[in-house]
Amino acid sequence: MTIDQAWTGYLDAAVAAARQAGAVIKDGLGRAHAVETKSSTTDLVTEVDRNSERLIREILSSRYPEIPMLGEEGTGASYDVENEPGPLWVVDPLDGTTNFVHTLPMSCVCVALVVRGRPEVGVIYDPYRDELFTAIRGGGAQLNGRPLAVAPQKTVEDSLLATGLPYDIRTAGAGSLKYFSRVAPYCRDVRAIGSAGLELAYVAAGRFGGYWEFHLAPWDTAAGWLLVEEAGGRVTALDGSTYHLESSTILATSGFIHDELVQMLMAGDRDGQENA
Ligand code: IPD
Ligand code: CA
Ligand code: CA
Repeated sequence: MTIDQAWTGYLDAAVAAARQAGAVIKDGLGRAHAVETKSSTTDLVTEVDRNSERLIREILSSRYPEIPMLGEEGTGASYDVENEPGPLWVVDPLDGTTNFVHTLPMSCVCVALVVRGRPEVGVIYDPYRDELFTAIRGGGAQLNGRPLAVAPQKTVEDSLLATGLPYDIRTAGAGSLKYFSRVAPYCRDVRAIGSAGLELAYVAAGRFGGYWEFHLAPWDTAAGWLLVEEAGGRVTALDGSTYHLESSTILATSGFIHDELVQMLMAGDRDGQENA
């Protein structure tokens, strides 16, 4: 098997898993769920998150039994995403659980194949709109098979941006409001749609010129990181430094407005490292 065929096989498996899990999520919207809390009173999980993860695990392991999977809901072992020697599936089985619980049809499934901390294959699937975002490193990014390109706006002033507020905002995340106030008055508008995966996919699709957030996990960002870069955009930490899957901040943009946005977000931070 050539390398190209291998990557296509991984992509096909990730797409199959994301689509089938997405069907479970779509079917579950608006039904009664067992809602539990995790790290904070605002960090929710339902039986649909867990069922989705189990289904994804079954599909991926039936095709690639030798590749381990790190899933948000921890139905398997835990892995060091940066240092795992071989390929690792990194999966968010339902990104946007709060939206799901409140019957807002704005969630997705994120599946990435990560090799030594770098996503090589990325899939984000929105079951409500049947939008499938896919990328293999070096092969561009697609939406339902059509090539994606980032937003053309050259200034923050002309850009529609997105952000998210962290689950621990009540205790440790209040600083994220400071970053919001540094940018919101100077751009076209800022959205917070409650799904990091969709926000990254929308940067790749040119719907948002940029997106930043704090305290995300590898399963929130792995697939979207690759999508943005393959669509021609740029991904760093908030201060412009190199992004990695354990970074505490992420800034993903079209590239055109990246440096300007870093400057605006960092204005006033003494050492450029402060975050929420
Ligand atoms: C969350 C969503 C949300 C972001 C949170 C994430 P979950 O993921 O992506 O937009 O603000 O930080 O944890 O819990 O719905 O999978
Ligand atoms: Ca998530
Ligand atoms: Ca999740």
